[in-house]
Amino acid sequence: MRLGILAASAATLAACAGSPTPAVERNPLACVNLGNALDAPREGQWGYRIEKRDIEAIAAAGFSTVRLPVRWSAYAGFEPPYPIDEPFLQRVDEVVGWALESDLEVVLNVHHYVEFHKDPAAHRDRLVGLWAAIAPHYSDWPDGLIFEVLNEPRGRQVADLWDDIQTEAIEEIRKTNPDRRIVFGGPSWNSLESLEETPRPDADGPLIGTFHYYEPFEFTHQNAPFIRQDLPSRGWGAPEEREEIEAVAARTEAVSERLDAPILLGEFGVYLPGTDPDARWAWYAAVREAAEQAGATWCVWNFAADFAIYDVAESDWLPGALEALGLEEPAPDS
Ligand code: BGC
Repeated sequence: MRLGILAASAATLAACAGSPTPAVERNPLACVNLGNALDAPREGQWGYRIEKRDIEAIAAAGFSTVRLPVRWSAYAGFEPPYPIDEPFLQRVDEVVGWALESDLEVVLNVHHYVEFHKDPAAHRDRLVGLWAAIAPHYSDWPDGLIFEVLNEPRGRQVADLWDDIQTEAIEEIRKTNPDRRIVFGGPSWNSLESLEETPRPDADGPLIGTFHYYEPFEFTHQNAPFIRQDLPSRGWGAPEEREEIEAVAARTEAVSERLDAPILLGEFGVYLPGTDPDARWAWYAAVREAAEQAGATWCVWNFAADFAIYDVAESDWLPGALEALGLEEPAPDS
């Protein structure tokens, strides 16, 4: 069994004197996505802008890692060397810096590259080119920064191309970041099934395998307006539904063994509006426990917005969220 994606494998006591983050026992496997912010067409358009206090609240609750989805493709040129908009790069630096200062590791990805998903062959060079621009910029940053090649590649066209494209992107990153951890995944929406069929990329240096988990989809995406089907409200927790999630632990261990890589469960979550909170938290707890059983880092989708576990307006965790995640509400004076 592998212990998460972290360099340090034991639970750490974060925060020394002078640090903005109060001392708290971290769960080395606990991660949360800061999604719907820097991955929106413009930050704030999807109702959330990342604030330093949010990152401090995440650290204070005992998380060890944040995953930062970023829509680089909306801020980069279309011709080589695909230059990245400087103010946007500085904003990403600011957020990554806040997280590292709070003793959180950061998984920085390429998210919502919609043009790539439509035509991967045409956008292959640009995806690799984005990494040729991003990777050198961060080559001197701490080891706590981790790269993830691309969120949820999908569509029939990518199936035969993906392993090569992913390896090419990793080789590009390796030119300037020989020792940085890099996250790779399978081509069908980062599903567990597609990771189970993915070969380990033929590249040097530390690699982490990833998958996302949203099963049963009819439960996790009920009432979600952005999917092209009408999924009415429903509960979760029948014995066969629980067994399916329990089986994820053994599958995760097996895939980790085969790939010879630690595993990041990079997204799992349930749409918030209209969902029964008890069923919702029971599902989060079950998936989190399965990941922990397999020694995998688990990354909740999502901190804020429509899959939220946190109420940004109230600056507080939603009732039941931290319990479901096996974390504790920080003491009021901490
Ligand atoms: C997407 C989000 C979506 C979530 C759940 C993520 O990968 O970026 O927009 O809400 O999956 O479907």
